Amino acid sequence: MADARKRLETEAVAGPLGRASNHDSAAKHVAGEALYIDDIAEPAGLAHAYLGLSEVAHGRLISLDLAAVRTAPGVLTVLTAEDIPGANDISSTHRHDEPVFTTRNILHHGQPLFAVIAETRDLARRAAGLAKATYEEATPLLDVAAARAAGGELVTDPLKLERGDVAGALAASPRRLKGAMEIGGQDHFYLESQIALAIPGEDEDMLVLSSTQHPSEVQHMVAQVLGVGSHAVTVEVRRMGGGFGGKETQANLFACVAALAARKLKRPVKLRPDRDDDMVITGKRHDFVVDYEIGFDDEGHIHAVDAVYAARCGWNADLSGPVTDRALFHMDNCYFYPAVRGRSQPLRTHTVSNTAFRGFGGPQGMVGAERFIEEVAFATGLDPLEIRRRNLYGAIGRDITPYHQQVEDNIAGEVIAELERRCDYRARQTAIREANRKSPVIRRGIALTPVKFGISFTATWYNQAGALVHVYTDGTVALNHGGTEMGQGLHVKVAQVVAQAFGIGLDRIKITATTTGKVPNTSATAASSGSDLNGMAALDACETIKARLIAFASKRWEVSAEEIAFLPGRIRIGTQEMSFAELVAAAYMARVQLSATGFYATPKIHWDRKAGRGHPFYYFAYGAAAAEVAIDTLTGEYKVERVDILHDCGTSLNPAIDKGQIEGGFVQGMGWLTTEELWWDDRGQLKTHAPSTYKIPVASDRPRIFNVDLLEKAPNREPTIHRSKAVGEPPLMLAISVLHALSDAVASVGDHRFCPRLDAPATPERILDAVDRMREQARGAAP
Ligand code: MTE
Ligand code: HPA
Repeated sequence: MADARKRLETEAVAGPLGRASNHDSAAKHVAGEALYIDDIAEPAGLAHAYLGLSEVAHGRLISLDLAAVRTAPGVLTVLTAEDIPGANDISSTHRHDEPVFTTRNILHHGQPLFAVIAETRDLARRAAGLAKATYEEATPLLDVAAARAAGGELVTDPLKLERGDVAGALAASPRRLKGAMEIGGQDHFYLESQIALAIPGEDEDMLVLSSTQHPSEVQHMVAQVLGVGSHAVTVEVRRMGGGFGGKETQANLFACVAALAARKLKRPVKLRPDRDDDMVITGKRHDFVVDYEIGFDDEGHIHAVDAVYAARCGWNADLSGPVTDRALFHMDNCYFYPAVRGRSQPLRTHTVSNTAFRGFGGPQGMVGAERFIEEVAFATGLDPLEIRRRNLYGAIGRDITPYHQQVEDNIAGEVIAELERRCDYRARQTAIREANRKSPVIRRGIALTPVKFGISFTATWYNQAGALVHVYTDGTVALNHGGTEMGQGLHVKVAQVVAQAFGIGLDRIKITATTTGKVPNTSATAASSGSDLNGMAALDACETIKARLIAFASKRWEVSAEEIAFLPGRIRIGTQEMSFAELVAAAYMARVQLSATGFYATPKIHWDRKAGRGHPFYYFAYGAAAAEVAIDTLTGEYKVERVDILHDCGTSLNPAIDKGQIEGGFVQGMGWLTTEELWWDDRGQLKTHAPSTYKIPVASDRPRIFNVDLLEKAPNREPTIHRSKAVGEPPLMLAISVLHALSDAVASVGDHRFCPRLDAPATPERILDAVDRMREQARGAAP
C-alpha cells in the first residue's frame, strides 16, 4: 500500500491548468489502442442487426414482403414497427414526427422500413437486400425552391427577429440592393460511423453502448421504444470517433434498433451501418437560401437589413427549429444593423432530416452577413475590410443585436486590427493586386473576416451539467461528468480542472466513461459548452470534497481553515505539509465522505422566443482569419496558400487542445465552403454517399502556410471555468475568409468592379462559372 502510494505520488504536475497537456488518449489514438464500440471484445451470443431502407423518396408503402429476408442464411429474426413494445417514436421534439420504422408514409429515400438480425453482420447486411417492397410514388420535394413552389410547408415554427423600423430605414437609405445566396449543406463524415451495442440484463434492464453526444436522450428514447422506465436503461459512452453534431440526435435510431432486437432475442445485438448507408440515412448540415435587401450609404455604413433564411430541413423537425433560430442569431456576425428584420423558413423536404452540425446554423447566418458586407463593398467601391470595420458593433447605441441582447464584451475591432498587423495584410493585399495585373491565368485573392459566436444553448434549460467525483484512500480520483468525448479534448480539460482543485497531478485522475448511471439528465455535449458546463460541475464537486477535508484538517490539527492550502503537489496545514493522499487517508479513518456530486447552471441567460428578445448567450467568442488563395481561371481549381488566425479562447484551459480545435474547425469549415457538395438526383437519391463522390479536405488541402495564434491576456469577462471560453464551434466560421479570398480572386478578373456573388460550396466548377460571368460582366461594361 505504502509503495503503491509512493509510486503514485511521483512529481505532481505543478498547476496543470493552462498547460498544453496532450489529449488523454493521444497515444492510444495513434497506436490504435483507444477502444471504440466496434473494438470492444464482443460479448458471447452477439447478434448483428442491419437496416432495410426505402428505395423511394416520397410516397406510400403498399406492401413489404420480408419472406426471403426471414429465410436467408443466418437470419435470427426481423423487426418491423409491430415488434415495438413501446412507442414507435424517436422524435427529439414534441412533434412525434420520427418513427423508428415507417408503416405507411415514405418521406425520404433511405428511410428505415425494418431491421434484420443475423448471426453475422455480413449475413444481416445481405439479407436486408432481399426485401421486396412496393410503393405508390409521389413527387419528392428535394430543395428549398421545390418546397417553396409547393406552398412552403414548415417542419417547425419559424422565428422572426426585428429591431427598429426596417421598412422606413430601407426607404430612407441613400442606396439599396437586393440579392440571394445559396449555401450548401455538409455531411459530418465522422471517422467512426453510427454504432450501438445493446446488452440485455435481468428483468427489463438494458445496457446500451452508443456512439452518441447525448446519452440521456438515447436513454429516454430506448426506454420509450421498449416501453420501460428510464431507470431500466443505462447508456454508456467512452468516446466517439467524431460527432460534430451528427451524433446529437442521429444516434437514437441505431441505439433503439439494437435495443429492440436485444430485447426480442434476449441476446446482445450490435448495429453498425456501413459508410454509404450512414450517409444515406442520417441528417446533415442544413443548406440555406438567403434572400436579402440591404440599405446603406456611400460611405458603406449599413442602415437596414431585411433577410429571409430558408432551410432545407428534410422530412422531420429534429433540431431544425433551434438550428434555423441560430442562423438568425448570427445574421449580424460582428456588425451592427441600425434596423433589422430576419425571418426563418424551416422547410419540409423529402430528404434526410437535417440536424446539428458544428456551428448549428450560426455559420450559415454568418456567411450571409459577410455577403452583405461584400455587396456593400462592391457597390461603394470601398475595400471590404474597411466596410467590415465601419459596421462593427460599437459604443452604446451601436451595441444591440437583432435579438435585443447588448454586446458587452466586444473585442472584434481589436482582434481584426491585431491580425491585420501580424499577417501584414495591407502590404500583401497591395502585392497581390499588383501581381494579378501581370498574371492572366493564375489569380490570387485575399480576405480577412471576423467571427463572433454566441455561447450557450438557446434552449435555456439545456445549460446545466452534473459531475461525480470519487476520491479513493490512495489519493487517486475517479472523475465522471455528463459530457461526452468525441476527440475534442473535453475529458482532459475537465481532468485539469480537478487536478488543479486538489493540487494533484493529472496521472492521479481516471477519466471514466460517460454513463447515465452516474450522472443523470445530462444535456447533449454540444453548443461548444462541454468544458464550460462540465468543468464547472466537476469543480463544484471538488469544492464540496475540499470543504469536508478542510473542516476535518482544521479540527484534527487545530488550525483555522485559512491556514490550510491545497498547493501543487502538497497540502499545507498550519506549519506542516503533507501529500493529498496522506490527508485523504487520514480523513477516511475519521469517517469523512470522500465522494461528491457537483452541479452547474449557467447564470444570466434568458430567452423569450415569441417576443424575439432576451439574453440568450452568456458571452461571445471572437476570432478572425486572413486567407490567401490562388485560382486557375482556366480550370477553376484553387489552392489555399496561406491562412493566419487569431482566436479568442479567453484564458485557455489547454492551449494545445484549443489550437487543435481551431485548426480542425477551420479545415472542416473550409471543406464545407469549398469542396464538400451533397447531390441528390431527381428521385431524391443521395448520390454523394462515399468519399469517392464526396470530397472532404485531405492533408494536401491544408493551407500551405498556417499560422494559428490564441489571443493573449484575454480572460473571459464572465466568471466561466477559470475565465476560459468555449472553442468547439467558433473556429469553423473562420473559414469564411477562404470563401471571400476566392471571391476576391474571381473579382480581379473584372478589375474588382463587380461583386462575384460566389455561392457555397465554391467548388472548382462554381469558381469557373463565376470567372466566366465576371468576364462577361466586364465585357458588357467595357466602354
Ligand atoms: N472535435 C473533434 N475532434 N471531434 C468532434 O466531433 N465536435 C465539435 C467540436 N470539436 C468535435 C470537435 C462540435 S460540433 C462541438 S459542439 C464541440 O466540439 C463539442 O465539444 P465541447 O463542447 O466540449 O467543445
Ligand atoms: N450547437 C449550438 N447550439 C446548439 C447545439 C449545437 O450543437 N445543440 C443545441 N443547441
